[in-house]
Amino acid sequence: MSVVIGVPASAEHETRSPIIGDVVKKLAGLGARVLVQRGATDAAFTTPESLGDVDWAETSADVMARSDIVWTVGPLSASDEAATRPGQLVIGMLAPWSDAASATALAGRGVTAFALELLPRISRAQSMDILTSQGSASGYQCVLLAAARAPKFFPMITYAAGTIRPSRVLVIGAGVAGLQAIATAKRLGAMVQGYDVRPETREQVESLGAKFVDTGVHAVGEGGYARELTQDERAQQATALAKAVAEADVVITTAAVPGRRAPRIITRAMVEAMKPGSVVVDMAAEGGGNVEGTVAGKDVLVGGARVVGPVNLPARMPVHASEMFAKNLFSFTAPMITDGTLTLDWSDEVIAGTAFTHAGHVVHAGVAKALGLPEPAPLAAAADPATAEETSA
Ligand code: NAI
Repeated sequence: MSVVIGVPASAEHETRSPIIGDVVKKLAGLGARVLVQRGATDAAFTTPESLGDVDWAETSADVMARSDIVWTVGPLSASDEAATRPGQLVIGMLAPWSDAASATALAGRGVTAFALELLPRISRAQSMDILTSQGSASGYQCVLLAAARAPKFFPMITYAAGTIRPSRVLVIGAGVAGLQAIATAKRLGAMVQGYDVRPETREQVESLGAKFVDTGVHAVGEGGYARELTQDERAQQATALAKAVAEADVVITTAAVPGRRAPRIITRAMVEAMKPGSVVVDMAAEGGGNVEGTVAGKDVLVGGARVVGPVNLPARMPVHASEMFAKNLFSFTAPMITDGTLTLDWSDEVIAGTAFTHAGHVVHAGVAKALGLPEPAPLAAAADPATAEETSA
């Protein structure tokens, strides 16, 4: 018997799907079969022919009933969640901190749920890093959005009667998405500036040919992430950024922090001081926004500027976003499957750090804290490879 990886249809607004043909073949090499709900990959333009040798189910209920592991892009639907069973694995971007009732329900059903947003940011886990692959798609898309909304050219244009100056683009937050936004805006010919509170980003911004805006605020936190700024630092940052924002034709903000409210970096007054026709794209809109006045899913006018609050940017390019997602899922899942048998090694920090429910409990300390639940016993410490759980499927 093989391990069965099930793919129920994604939510209606989600165009991405977590499986592609290449990954089906690689899973077969591990002794795993893929079971797909009919139609689940249509919105990602993945045809049944390109998926190759998979099994098909007519309903998501059938997928849930027959799968050992469920792969999903976003959180499961309420009915799929209710159809999970003890020992089943669910892997995807599960937004674990968004809903205490859902987390406790999954735990109560005995599901082992892995939220890939929790994946440790270590070298070994880079090939599994969904925040990186999807952040890259988002950074690219938000520049295209800005260019389409802008009433100006991005590049310098020389025409018979003169020369048009290139647009000035300021990218705030130079993580994965921000660096991709900088690279994309450069490719479109804009004059690009980048800014981040982590000082090591200066070199990364400059290596892409953009100018670094130095506000004098340096805020490195744990694990290479930015820490939250103090009130004084926020004021210093705002003063230094106000000039760069006022001079920009386009501002793109990317400082989204999973599980936490996005830091407010641009005030309404800063947007109002921009030139008429300016465009602000707030990639952090879904997490509360880096820009005062952003509305997720809408364009709003603030003074003469258009503030765009895009949601689910990777879903705008489902072919490549799905390809990257599926390969990330494969890299994460492959070490769990040997010769068609599923084994979880809880001494592996990647597995222990990404799980948020297991054996009846919410097991991730950060998630439990965010949801106001009791602190869980450490999983990794309790685990021992010798007692690693084995499910013969
Ligand atoms: P993110 O999505 O959490 O944040 C985006 C950017 O916004 C970050 O560069 C952050 O420094 C910046 N930021 C946060 N608060 C800010 C503020 N108040 N003002 C200005 N900028 C602010 O970041 P992302 O892209 O997920 O990467 C974060 C870190 O993780 C980086 O150090 C990156 O190199 C590292 N990383 C490591 C990986 C691995 O080793 N597996 C994979 C991907 C990223």
